Amino acid sequence: MNIIITGASKGIGLEVAKMLIADNNNKIICISRTSDFLNLNNMFNTSRFFHVKADISKTNFSDSIIPIVLKEFSGIDIIINNAGILINKPFTELTDDDFDNSFNINVKGPFKLVRELLPHINEGAHILNITSMGGFQGSAKFPGLSLYSSSKGALAILSETMAEELKEYGIKSNALALGAVQTEMLANAFPGYEAPLQPKQMAEFIMEFALNGHKFFNGKILPVSISTP
Ligand SMILES: NC(=O)c1ccc[n+]([C@@H]2O[C@H](COP(=O)([O-])OP(=O)(O)OC[C@H]3O[C@@H](n4cnc5c(N)ncnc54)[C@H](OP(=O)(O)O)[C@@H]3O)[C@@H](O)[C@H]2O)c1
Repeated sequence: MNIIITGASKGIGLEVAKMLIADNNNKIICISRTSDFLNLNNMFNTSRFFHVKADISKTNFSDSIIPIVLKEFSGIDIIINNAGILINKPFTELTDDDFDNSFNINVKGPFKLVRELLPHINEGAHILNITSMGGFQGSAKFPGLSLYSSSKGALAILSETMAEELKEYGIKSNALALGAVQTEMLANAFPGYEAPLQPKQMAEFIMEFALNGHKFFNGKILPVSISTP
């Protein structure tokens, strides 16, 4: 499988990338702003792994990703839009920049990535967007997370609309609305809270779903949560 995953420098995305690359049949392009995990390059020491250091809200994918796709991939089979940011601030203190950053990274980045890569996405491919229970309609909401939750809600609906519009290309799109997983992001949202899941455990589910979920679901927003938050 030829796979693109965003936000694989830490947290859940890092664990998903590690699991995917362990299979010799997979080639992976990882996109993140930092490259701490370039240790991964040493760890994996494989020509099947490519890191693109980029901000998904600003990068021009035609320059940064498409050349690698053309050289190394015979089309794209899976895109996992995992990168995200969480701004934890009371509603009254949120700025326009906070709004732009939240929506540019959590919604516009995935939108642009898929739109620009579309000519290179294979028939039968799966686009998997990682959203949050915070952005799941009717779920519990928490102070400080207005922009995070609303941007994740937007990404969830984008997953539904992409499924509809990409039908003609034979491409499926789903969203997983994750519950609490013990990462830096969770610690920022809920300091001191202990999540019931570690990144590796959630990564196992995401990897399996990315590989096979589209055989059973299309245009779905699935809650993956055993606790609130
Ligand atoms: N942890 C949870 O409880 C939880 C719950 C629900 C949903 N989620 C979702 O799961 C996903 C992963 O979360 P996590 O907890 O693993 O978070 P995390 O540990 O904070 O990791 C976030 C990842 O996103 C990348 N990223 C952020 N902004 C980026 C940008 N502008 N361009 C490229 N990459 C960017 C980060 O890399 P760089 O900093 O290197 O760019 C990092 O690799 C997120 O979408 C999050 O909303 C998490």
